[in-house]
Amino acid sequence: MSLSLNLDTYIGKIPNFPKEGILFYDVTPMLQAPEALQFIVDQCLITYKNTPIDGIAALEARGFYFGTLIALAMNKPFFPIRKAGKLPGSTIQQSYDLEYGTATIEMQVTSNLQGKHLLIVDDLIATGGTLQAAAQLLEQQGAIVQHLFGIIGLSFLNYRKVLQQFTIQTLINYD
Ligand code: PRP
Repeated sequence: MSLSLNLDTYIGKIPNFPKEGILFYDVTPMLQAPEALQFIVDQCLITYKNTPIDGIAALEARGFYFGTLIALAMNKPFFPIRKAGKLPGSTIQQSYDLEYGTATIEMQVTSNLQGKHLLIVDDLIATGGTLQAAAQLLEQQGAIVQHLFGIIGLSFLNYRKVLQQFTIQTLINYD
């Protein structure tokens, strides 16, 4: 297990994307660095070693980069939550505010979540709106959501206030 690594060196900082005045934290360099992906997965395994987790949910698109890796490492099922209109079959939707704009996410209706403890994974937590909406979708389907795992946290956007009912683990924070 890799116990130490400076994640900041694997995060691009792109000014004025996707809008003027927004500093975009780009995780693409991590995807091209197996040691960074290994570190992230290892940290997740360590964090939830003694926590009952029955499945992993993650958010399109960047949450998928990490969520399936973590699900595989934990040997747990993976539940994708996508932007509205992408998933076949019966779905439920939830709208929410983003750091920039609004969006609607959805997931497939499933009976597999009743009473199950789900960990939600995403690359970055900004306002917390996305994770809050994701938790609502899972809870609507009977899942128990207590733990949220983000690679990056933008503390200055106060996501901890929005997500105060959850236990949040991030690997690097920017103030
Ligand atoms: C980004 C990021 C998180 C979310 C965080 O996704 O990957 O999912 O925003 O924002 P919040 O905490 O303010 O809700 P985005 O919606 O840009 O989609 P993408 O992953 O498909 O690029």
